[in-house]
Amino acid sequence: MNQLFITGGAGFIGSAFVRLALAELPQSEVTNFDALTYAGNTDNLEGIDAEGYRFVHGDITDRDAVMEALGQGTDAIVNFAAESHVDRSIASADEFVRTNVLGTQVLLDCARERKVSRFVQVSTDEVMGSLPEDEREFFTEESGFSPNSPYAASKAGAEHLVRAARHTFGLDTVITRCGNNYGPRQFPEKFLPLMIANAMNDQPIPVYGDGRNVRDWIHVDDHCRAILLALRKARAGATYNIGARNERRNIEVAKSVLDQLGKPHSLLTFVKDRPGHDRRYAIDSSLIESELGWKPQETWESGLGKTIEWYQTNGDWVERARSGAYREFYAQQYGSEVKAP
Ligand code: NAD
Ligand code: TYD
Repeated sequence: MNQLFITGGAGFIGSAFVRLALAELPQSEVTNFDALTYAGNTDNLEGIDAEGYRFVHGDITDRDAVMEALGQGTDAIVNFAAESHVDRSIASADEFVRTNVLGTQVLLDCARERKVSRFVQVSTDEVMGSLPEDEREFFTEESGFSPNSPYAASKAGAEHLVRAARHTFGLDTVITRCGNNYGPRQFPEKFLPLMIANAMNDQPIPVYGDGRNVRDWIHVDDHCRAILLALRKARAGATYNIGARNERRNIEVAKSVLDQLGKPHSLLTFVKDRPGHDRRYAIDSSLIESELGWKPQETWESGLGKTIEWYQTNGDWVERARSGAYREFYAQQYGSEVKAP
């Protein structure tokens, strides 16, 4: 893999992947193409100064900008760029359709034109909808599409376009579908960093509905290792589910965070439920385990501990992320139910 083109590499998962790719493929040239939306943060790229690395500020829906940045000889595109927050997609879906659907098609077209050898689409378990509470049911690669939020629907749309590019034009594509990531540098609108940041400041933690929704949590570095492996070793046309067999109810996660920070459970504040809130996600990752030999390296206990520590020692990062537009979003999302940060 000599030339790698990563989109959305200034975000939470993309920036972790850029770091991993530079460490694991030191001979490669890595382009990080990112529009720096509210979620894209150059703070996330601090300390990345490898010779083969370059950052290009650009939008994946801008065909000319993508073609120019791609140049000749790109071996692979890994597409992380997306609008990624379910609550924002409920407030307005426009940007989700623009970036997640149209942007993916632009990248696919450019990949074909530039004869890129492999296209990896970073997708989500949310395209498969919600599972019943029955603990014997899991998402597999055979599960049908059943996206429930505008975010999930836009990611499902992107997957369909990737599939079509393979079927119709023979593009070498791989799709990865992961569960809920946690780790350093996650924008604090998402549940885990929001809880950590609020708890650190003795502010209430908004829990949607009855707090019994289940998410399947994975450390961001384990997700990135799976994507890198898929990029290098997957069969053309493969789809892989990625999960660490770590199902937790939201309320249980919230209590673990408070306990680790030594904060009282009285900070938990039940607020009105998210419309259309998916009840349970749970991933069967046996295909990527058996085909590619991937296994998560972090346990929930080790990963959560390290993650909390990162936010504690990077208070400046948290405060910068929570300034400006974040405050407006927070006030709009939680209204008077929970005091603004
Ligand atoms: P994020 O919101 O933290 O980062 C998204 C990045 O994409 C930002 O750097 C942003 O600037 C960039 N971006 C947005 N629109 C763009 C555009 N039009 N052109 C170029 N760049 C643009 O998201 P994340 O949590 O790091 O997620 C990355 C990918 O992984 C997404 O595709 C998401 O759907 C997928 N995913 C996320 C999770 C999770 O738990 N966070 C789980 C499974 C899959
Ligand atoms: P989130 O981090 O938004 O990820 P996703 O919706 O993609 O799973 O939310 C994780 C879970 O936490 C989800 O069940 C919604 C819930 N949640 C809350 O209870 N309170 C909050 O303030 C947020 C943002 C999420």
